[in-house]
Amino acid sequence: MDPKPKAFLLHGFIGAGKTTFAKRLEEQEKALRFTHDEWMNRLYGEDPPAERFPDYARRVFAVMETTWTRCLDLGTSVILDFGFWTRTERERTRAIVAEHGGEAVLYRLNCTDDMAWERVSTRNRSLTGSLFIAPNTFQVL
Ligand SMILES: Nc1ncnc2c1ncn2[C@@H]1O[C@H](COP(=O)(O)OP(=O)(O)O)[C@@H](O)[C@H]1O
Ligand SMILES: [Mg+2]
Repeated sequence: MDPKPKAFLLHGFIGAGKTTFAKRLEEQEKALRFTHDEWMNRLYGEDPPAERFPDYARRVFAVMETTWTRCLDLGTSVILDFGFWTRTERERTRAIVAEHGGEAVLYRLNCTDDMAWERVSTRNRSLTGSLFIAPNTFQVL
């Protein structure tokens, strides 16, 4: 029997290094990478209006879910570069992965808040697929 396709869940705060790690992992694992911020950027720009952000984010999650679950059905591993800040989200996703015959693998990316902000403020100056993060956004989250 073929091994189960994997779903790598990347958990960590803004600037922790999730997307950087995800890009390395996709090569190693030949898994399809789903980076939520990249899709948001392509569809809604690098700094979507705050009042529309939750609605836009939900739409992107919904479209991605249809696709990444299909990947698992077809035996392809996936990388879910979403942040997964809440336990509820992680548990829900693990259940969906199992329903589609996959094996969930959680990675937790971590660095200090100061380092994360330093990285994010540098990234803000040349966004390639990332979203602009205002200082206030970083602090309130
Ligand atoms: N291990 C690391 N050491 C130094 N800089 C890093 C490291 N990982 C990521 N970075 C840089 O920090 C910034 C934030 O990383 P990123 O992967 O975009 O984080 P996240 O996806 O978690 O928001 C990027 O500009 C990236 O180049
Ligand atoms: Mg990222």
